[in-house]
Amino acid sequence: MSADATFWDRIAPKYAKQPISNIPAYETTLERVRSYLKATDRVIEFGAGTGSTALRLAPHVSRYLATDLSPGMAAIGEEKRRAEGISNLRIASGVVADFTAEDVTVALGFNVFHLVDDPKADFERIYEMLPSAGLFISKTPAIGSKWYFRPLVRVMQAFGKAPRPVHFLSVEALDAEIRAAGFEIVETGLYPPETPSRFIVARKP
Ligand SMILES: C[S@@+](CC[C@H](N)C(=O)[O-])C[C@H]1O[C@@H](n2cnc3c(N)ncnc32)[C@H](O)[C@@H]1O
Repeated sequence: MSADATFWDRIAPKYAKQPISNIPAYETTLERVRSYLKATDRVIEFGAGTGSTALRLAPHVSRYLATDLSPGMAAIGEEKRRAEGISNLRIASGVVADFTAEDVTVALGFNVFHLVDDPKADFERIYEMLPSAGLFISKTPAIGSKWYFRPLVRVMQAFGKAPRPVHFLSVEALDAEIRAAGFEIVETGLYPPETPSRFIVARKP
């Protein structure tokens, strides 16, 4: 198991109980995502954590696969899925590279692409797995523009309180990397603006 998976497995039970830190930003994000989803869509979500967002969005699409690096996060997600009886939702553990053969029309990832080994490679893999007109919708903390995140995260990593890797991306770099993978950006936002947390809706031409 990778070091990251061990970190996320360890904090999964606590993470599952944490309240959403900014409910208006979360609800705005969900509302924007939902506005793009069709009842016929086949969705994959990366870094889905314990599946809270998947439980909210799955009822709006045909089928939904929620994935996460951490088997511990996925196991809690599966318990929640069973408790709510959502039959078109499947939960699995793995990273983007493990799901390149999935038949999907929409790919999602929230608060995860600053944590993956190689965001650029993942954006390219997601581009490959989607059909033409397929959507890639993400939200990523763009912490590169705030100087104090670097020393803070480094100290937390030294004490095992933050995962590795953490990428310090800027809003501009995120937009550019998603475009460089081949996507057209159709909508952006900052929810919340303070982080800033970059919301991007991208379409494969
Ligand atoms: C900050 S949490 C976000 C969870 C959820 N998307 C949310 O917004 O609440 C990051 C999640 O990404 C997962 N993760 C970390 N690195 C990953 C990777 N390389 N591939 C897939 N998931 C990863 C972690 O296990 C964790 O569940």
